[in-house]
Amino acid sequence: MADTDGLIDARDFGTSAPAASGLSGGFHVKGAHGQDWGLRNRLSRIFRPDTGRTVMLAFDHGYFVGPMAGLERLDTGIAPLVPAADAIMMTRGALRTSIPPTTDAGIVLRASGGPSILRELSDEHIALDIEDALRLNAAALAIQVFIGGEHESRSVANLAALVDAGQRHGVAVLGVTAVGKDMVRDARYFRLATRISAEMGAHVVKTYYVEDGFETVTASCPVPIIVAGGKKLPELDALTMAYRSIQEGAAGVDMGRNIFQSESPAAMLAAVRGVVHDGLKPAEAYELFKETAAGATGNAES
Ligand code: 5RP
Repeated sequence: MADTDGLIDARDFGTSAPAASGLSGGFHVKGAHGQDWGLRNRLSRIFRPDTGRTVMLAFDHGYFVGPMAGLERLDTGIAPLVPAADAIMMTRGALRTSIPPTTDAGIVLRASGGPSILRELSDEHIALDIEDALRLNAAALAIQVFIGGEHESRSVANLAALVDAGQRHGVAVLGVTAVGKDMVRDARYFRLATRISAEMGAHVVKTYYVEDGFETVTASCPVPIIVAGGKKLPELDALTMAYRSIQEGAAGVDMGRNIFQSESPAAMLAAVRGVVHDGLKPAEAYELFKETAAGATGNAES
């Protein structure tokens, strides 16, 4: 371990250089050109080869909070949204019970668990065997990483163990940046947390958007960054956040509450797709949201 005295703060992120998140070594997923065929094939089920991006619908929240608003019924509330998502992130319990096996969405399985919202959240363990993940045709396994948290070290060891299993079987690993109540949500923290996940072998890293310096987070992470939606925002604000994330180097979104808690989840998913894949600006995507929502209710007014 290097002596940490006298570390010089990172300062040259080369953000004006073209992001390597495009065609990286002839492959559309950043940092994955050296991986084996199976792993790249699985990443291609998550990241669309034509845009290099993904709209991942996250509904794994029940693994520690139970049936939150919008997730009361996975079968009737969430399953109808799945065809419009490139990839879906959920527990194996949700997948087996509530999602039709005819789906062609990339399967991203929640692979960590342990504490409920009533306990210390960083006290997680690996909660899925790679064999069951293969049985479920998983493209990736998602695991929470608690940098600065009480059980930071174990969560990093969990990630490393999952990467070992994933590399052995050609399954990608998504490192999910967890933000504890006391953590400062700034670019400096997210650079630290996302880079640690990537250095430990994660093939994709999820984090939150920050208004100041987000491009330094994406530039300094050698694998694709996807952005969590976080708490429910007004639709235009959530679309603006998605737009800025993409403009500043994210390779997609992994969005939950801002879709399934929207007044029109299907319309919001369509609008987010417009931002991520079709380059819609926030105002254009918001118009699409309103039109789609009005069409869905049979109300032509917006
Ligand atoms: C829960 C998660 C969620 O999947 C993630 O936070 C995305 O959902 P949201 O957009 O609602 O934040 O990892 O631990």
